[in-house]
Amino acid sequence: MGYKFKKQIFGWMDLLRFKKLVPNREKHLSEGSEKPLPTSYKVNEVAAILHPGLQKATLTAIKEETKDTKAYTFELSSPMLFRAGQYVTLRKKIGDSLINRPYGVASSPLESLHNKSLTLMIKKAGFFSDYLFDNAKVGDEFEIVGPAGFFYYEPLTDKKEVIAVAGGSGITPFLAMAKAIVEGQEDFHMTLLYGANKEEELIAKDELDKLPQDKIKVVYVLANEEKKGYEHGFISAELINKYAPESYTLMFCGSDGMGKFLNGELKKLKGLHNFKSEKNAVGMRDIKPATYKLTVHINDQVYEVKASNNETLLVSMERAGLSVPSSCRAGGCGFCHSKLVSGKFSIAGADKRRLADVKFGYIHPCVTYPDSDMEIIVPQAK
Ligand code: FES
Repeated sequence: MGYKFKKQIFGWMDLLRFKKLVPNREKHLSEGSEKPLPTSYKVNEVAAILHPGLQKATLTAIKEETKDTKAYTFELSSPMLFRAGQYVTLRKKIGDSLINRPYGVASSPLESLHNKSLTLMIKKAGFFSDYLFDNAKVGDEFEIVGPAGFFYYEPLTDKKEVIAVAGGSGITPFLAMAKAIVEGQEDFHMTLLYGANKEEELIAKDELDKLPQDKIKVVYVLANEEKKGYEHGFISAELINKYAPESYTLMFCGSDGMGKFLNGELKKLKGLHNFKSEKNAVGMRDIKPATYKLTVHINDQVYEVKASNNETLLVSMERAGLSVPSSCRAGGCGFCHSKLVSGKFSIAGADKRRLADVKFGYIHPCVTYPDSDMEIIVPQAK
């Protein structure tokens, strides 16, 4: 049976329009301006200034906060736009190694925009912070990459009332948020429950004591010291319920141990609307020391480095002077995503890899400890 062609009047009209397409286009082109299009646009120039990605930073001040924490203030080469609660990556070449570490920003976004100034709260807890504590001085040059992270107040999903639970240097993002509230950059009320073992371990207490209590209520909680005007013990559901409003967002930043304890308390909380927490960069593993051979492929180069079983593969590669990509150092951003060729390993905390990564053998060296000799393929750092 032959195909019956059905005449469609609108189909013919489309064909006519199509016939006119080329002449119409030529007509519009001939009527257009001969002036060349601009090669850059104001909006892109402003965006490049506010989001420089990587920039130079000069150390301008060091302030001792507690016996193991210092505040480092940097002058940036250009203002950086960030949300209070985000972190940046501090970068410096130490010997042959290019070292990157993420640190929370303690200063407010306005300080960066108006004064090109950024303060990072750094606790002595590893290779880079040891270097900073022992060697860094005013005038030293660094690089800063960022900002990054999603630990900030989100008005669309968070309640106007926020209970912030901080432990130790986990106070950093809340310091930035408190300043942003005072400066009118953020619009929420914060009740800050700040825990430490003893009063002398509280970071930035002088700054916290000056905050307007109608906007930010600060409650200090000491685990190993009883003092008038301070809560005593752990930051438990009972304590949170004591200060909690009817409905609120709970934000947490602190140690893994404190996070685990708080997770166990969540079901006992009254009025909890949503919970968000920030993971710290992974540190040393407490295990009987052993050293393995780590074979690393980067592009067409092959390196053999020593890998200690109590440090992550990322730290071992950095110690050996290899330039490898990283950002969050907590298994969350995927910057260090690498292919496993062989070897046994353990992952710090819960395995947060995607199912496809587990199936096809990808790891995040920033949260991976070696349990045998290993071989991995790592992307080139940019
Ligand atoms: S550095 Fe972010 S996942 Fe490894």
